[in-house]
Amino acid sequence: MSYDVKPIHPIFGAEVTGIDCSQTPTPEVVEFVEDAMAEYAVLVLRDQTMTDEEHAEWSRYFGPRESPAGPITGHASKQQRLGRYLFDAGNLDLNGKIMAADHPRRVMRSGDRLWHTDSSFNPLPTKWSMLHGRTVPPEGGNTDFADCRAAYDALPEETKARMENLMVVHNIWHSRIKGGLKETEITEEQRQSMPPVCHPLVRIMPRSNRKAMMIGAHAEHIVGMPDSEAQPFLQELADFATQPQFVYSHKWHEGDLVIWDNRCTLHRATSFDDLTYPRDMRRTTIDEYAPSWSFVD
Ligand code: OGA
Ligand code: MN
Repeated sequence: MSYDVKPIHPIFGAEVTGIDCSQTPTPEVVEFVEDAMAEYAVLVLRDQTMTDEEHAEWSRYFGPRESPAGPITGHASKQQRLGRYLFDAGNLDLNGKIMAADHPRRVMRSGDRLWHTDSSFNPLPTKWSMLHGRTVPPEGGNTDFADCRAAYDALPEETKARMENLMVVHNIWHSRIKGGLKETEITEEQRQSMPPVCHPLVRIMPRSNRKAMMIGAHAEHIVGMPDSEAQPFLQELADFATQPQFVYSHKWHEGDLVIWDNRCTLHRATSFDDLTYPRDMRRTTIDEYAPSWSFVD
């Protein structure tokens, strides 16, 4: 089968045709997708009818998969109806019904409406997410993406100089609180199971050699900088990166698989009538690498 890639936005994002993700990717397909991701950072593959198992299997060829059932993220979010490697990003409960307005997982998911990058609260760099739209609402519920390479390139030189060598502390509880979770609802066990981690603010991306900044809702502090300075600075960078010229808004169609690079983009869920319409979204997440002691498959 021949495959092709066509840009969908002036600066990043592309639609790829000719790849069936229910099939084992050949080495050529893996290289093609790696190259396209290095260039575009967000790829859309339409009309994918894969099962959870096929989704997980396809993902395996691009890096070690995260298991969302691993760490304690609290409430009902730990229990899930999907397989070991599938993260449930939709609005359905364990029985496949729309979550009630007071469902405890709603508050965990509401943080997704903030600009963020997946799993930057994990110690390993999170490479890509692959989100499959199984059921999508008739209107709303887009996912917005921002290109943090192009945004970095466009920053004033003095801001770039200020950013050099800075390390950012990322913490899942920081973004959950911003999303509406009450601090008193977080147990000590939960906090200890997912402690804060550090990542560089700016890094060079493999293959493209482009610089990108990693910020977003999990970013809580800058090492060695008082919060009174760090928090407005992180906000200023996020506001800069999410200006309309750096943003692609994806309108979902059933069967879309959207792959994004978490190391150089931000994304956010947008609103829809989520008490009326089911939105069944399933995600695999892969790391850039794994420590050899944990790479069991
Ligand atoms: C995610 C996420 C956004 C959406 O799956 O990581 O943030 O629109 N999803 O569902
Ligand atoms: Mn996300």
